[in-house]
Amino acid sequence: MPSISKKGFSMPESPIRKLVPYAEKAKKGGAKVIHLNIGQPDIKTPQIALDAVKNNTLSVLEYSRTEGSEVYREKLASYYLKNEINVSAQDIIVTTGGSEALSFTMGSIADTDDEIIIPEPFYANYNGFATAMGIKVVPVVSQIENNFALPLIDEFEKLITPKTKGILICNPGNPTGYLYTREEIKKLSAIAKKHDLYLIADEVYREFTYDGKEHYSILQEQGMEDHAIIVDSVSKRYSMCGARIGCLVSKNKEIIKTALKFAQARLSPPTYAQIASEAALETPQSYFDDVKTEYVSRRNLLISELQQIDGIKIGHPHGAFYCIAELPIKDSDHFAQWLLEEFRVNGETVMVAPAAGFYASEGLGKNQIRIAYVLDKESLKRAVYILKEALKVYKDQ
Ligand SMILES: Cc1ncc(COP(=O)(O)O)c(C=O)c1O
Repeated sequence: MPSISKKGFSMPESPIRKLVPYAEKAKKGGAKVIHLNIGQPDIKTPQIALDAVKNNTLSVLEYSRTEGSEVYREKLASYYLKNEINVSAQDIIVTTGGSEALSFTMGSIADTDDEIIIPEPFYANYNGFATAMGIKVVPVVSQIENNFALPLIDEFEKLITPKTKGILICNPGNPTGYLYTREEIKKLSAIAKKHDLYLIADEVYREFTYDGKEHYSILQEQGMEDHAIIVDSVSKRYSMCGARIGCLVSKNKEIIKTALKFAQARLSPPTYAQIASEAALETPQSYFDDVKTEYVSRRNLLISELQQIDGIKIGHPHGAFYCIAELPIKDSDHFAQWLLEEFRVNGETVMVAPAAGFYASEGLGKNQIRIAYVLDKESLKRAVYILKEALKVYKDQ
């Protein structure tokens, strides 16, 4: 049989999706599975976006421009301006999800064996994109004990080598819910400038900030024009994960020119989904106010329920819709699989994402899980009850 590439072998499985076959088997066996593993919100997509696709009069579903529809990018630039991010349509490439913006960014800034520093735990697919590009992820550890705050700047500087091309942050963070302060963004920007690195911010959860805290973007910071690259997406903002639309934003013309070549190779982003995304920009503020209120009440309920579990440690999220919980177990991979295969409460079980895959450092996160609070409060409450009962009988391997 022809062989598989080394790269193919080293591609990590997604910790969010790898247990799906066990969940499917549990469902076929009659169990109800409550999904805490995946950030697929149950929030309704704005009707205005759905209607724009239903009501359009296209007779040929053509390719769009490689960089995305002109009108959509103009409107996106106005959206950014409203968020105090001063960019124009020329600074934006529309991509097939934030995922593609991440891979275009990595491809544009780093060669094989180059390094990107990322605070961990981080969005697990950063590992996947880096592996696909042959790039080394250099983690800087943030701790649950201090709520995943940015590690000391000295820690970043220690890790910078001649191969370092950039620092990647997720703000607000998946999987931690950590929201970077203005001061932290300023410090990171200063390092990027001092060492002539890119600072990449994955801001796909920009709207989801809680407790009166505001998001501060790397492109609000002065003097970052050559260094800053934003990765963005409509997936979570408008609960449009299936649209597969995101974008890469940078004032650095060389970056845009280079990313565009990657984009040309895949021709264009999806046409219908750009129509929906353009319309979604008209979504009223009241939609976001309602969604935020809902997420805050889900978070509060989730945290207070989790706190009743003996021996648990929880990071307190101020943004996005995830939290990391450290459990009194040894191996959350085994625990998560055992839940799906063996544990039921009234015919129900829970699917969680084992957290080791959100780390690059071997051995970290093994007793942690990531929980997405994208379900209604009733389901969240039942899910935590199931976890609590499961931990009473679960035996480490
Ligand atoms: C932090 C982060 N970045 C990027 C993505 C990719 O999003 P998409 O490709 O759906 O736009 C996700 C999806 O969950 C995410 O959580």
